[in-house]
Amino acid sequence: MIAITYSTCYGSAGEYAALLGRTLGLEAIESSSYAPAGESMVIHFGGLYAGSMRGLKDVALRMPDSAELVAVSVGVADPTLPDNASRIDADIRRCLPQSMLPRTTIFRLRGRLLYSRLSAKHRAMMWMLCRFIERRKARREEDDLILSTYGTDIDFFDPASIAPISEYVRSRTPNAH
Ligand SMILES: Cc1cc2nc3c(=O)[nH]c(=O)nc-3n(C[C@H](O)[C@H](O)[C@H](O)COP(=O)(O)O)c2cc1C
Repeated sequence: MIAITYSTCYGSAGEYAALLGRTLGLEAIESSSYAPAGESMVIHFGGLYAGSMRGLKDVALRMPDSAELVAVSVGVADPTLPDNASRIDADIRRCLPQSMLPRTTIFRLRGRLLYSRLSAKHRAMMWMLCRFIERRKARREEDDLILSTYGTDIDFFDPASIAPISEYVRSRTPNAH
């Protein structure tokens, strides 16, 4: 049995989870409503906020001990850049108990960052991040994107990007749709 969970602020992680759910014939549920039911795999989609993946720790603590975890991050940073990918992976792994790491697989997706919809707190966090980046001596590849798009809506949501996840799930669970 497979569970699909998500935790989102602005919808991207939830939309990806629902898309995967439709592909696999499963319902995606908000992670706060997740009740373990003997799953062999839990696929969790979480928005990235200051390096932390929403809902991940919570789901990891509640899921069955032997279940496989598929952690799907949804952020704006380009995960095809090796630096970004390894930073996302390290942040995710740091959140999980050591014993879960061998049964954890990570996928990294890109979502939307819509300044027009941000809460005052998130707006302030992005403003502070920009001031921090401006002072950073060793600039990261992602920094230019954050500075140049500050204040504008950016949309990297790509429905096709879930294909490797559905392929992976099918390869691990032959009874999946
Ligand atoms: C305050 C704030 C911090 C963020 N931190 C990160 C981050 O560390 N890495 C990243 O890739 N994206 C970051 N983002 C972008 C979000 O992850 C992106 O908007 C994502 O689509 C959010 O998912 P959601 O729509 O499911 O909430 C941040 C956005 C905000 C507003």
